[in-house]
Amino acid sequence: MNQVNPPMNQSKMLSDHDIQSIYQWISKMKHLRSSTRKKDKAISTLHLNYQVLGAGNTRVVFDLDNGHVVKVALSKKGLASNLTEYQLYNQCSRKLRKYLCPVIEFGNGWIIMKKMQPIVSLTEDDEKKLSRLRKRFTREGVQPRGLRNKNLAFSTRHNRIIVIDYGNFKYSSS
Ligand SMILES: Nc1ncnc2c1ncn2[C@@H]1O[C@H](COP(=O)(O)OP(=O)(O)O)[C@@H](O)[C@H]1O
Ligand SMILES: [Mg+2]
Repeated sequence: MNQVNPPMNQSKMLSDHDIQSIYQWISKMKHLRSSTRKKDKAISTLHLNYQVLGAGNTRVVFDLDNGHVVKVALSKKGLASNLTEYQLYNQCSRKLRKYLCPVIEFGNGWIIMKKMQPIVSLTEDDEKKLSRLRKRFTREGVQPRGLRNKNLAFSTRHNRIIVIDYGNFKYSSS
């Protein structure tokens, strides 16, 4: 236990086979040139039994079909994004946490989060909420980078914007 953030090798939601597949993909991915289309390569290499829900520049996201998603890194930057989300969610104040999509589990190359409905387009009211949200994070020393509609979801229950991709947020961990 001498690592600060030991990645999990077990999961309540992923099978050992899923974890093995992701591990093998991560080992392979590190040797691929950044120009290669990693998303398609990842999907075919991983061969997971889940539907692809979305993808960004650094991660591919699968629907676990139980109200949760797993994000798998497509590059070293994707690994860094997973770590940022895991650390920020667990280290930030309660006040900020309620605006972040809950992280459930974190492992080598993967992170499990709550499944949410990404925002299709931002209304004027959303833009106002987003501006307040930006200030809340900045005030606590967190730079909220990448706040675009596809990285955001809406919680109707709380009438609140929730960030589903905060892998690019910058903060100084203590
Ligand atoms: N928690 C989530 N629930 C539902 N869809 C998600 C969730 N997280 C991500 N997605 C979908 O997957 C896409 C890629 O995930 P994201 O975290 O933005 O990866 P990247 O860091 O590569 O941009 C998102 O744009 C969104 O469409
Ligand atoms: Mg994104």
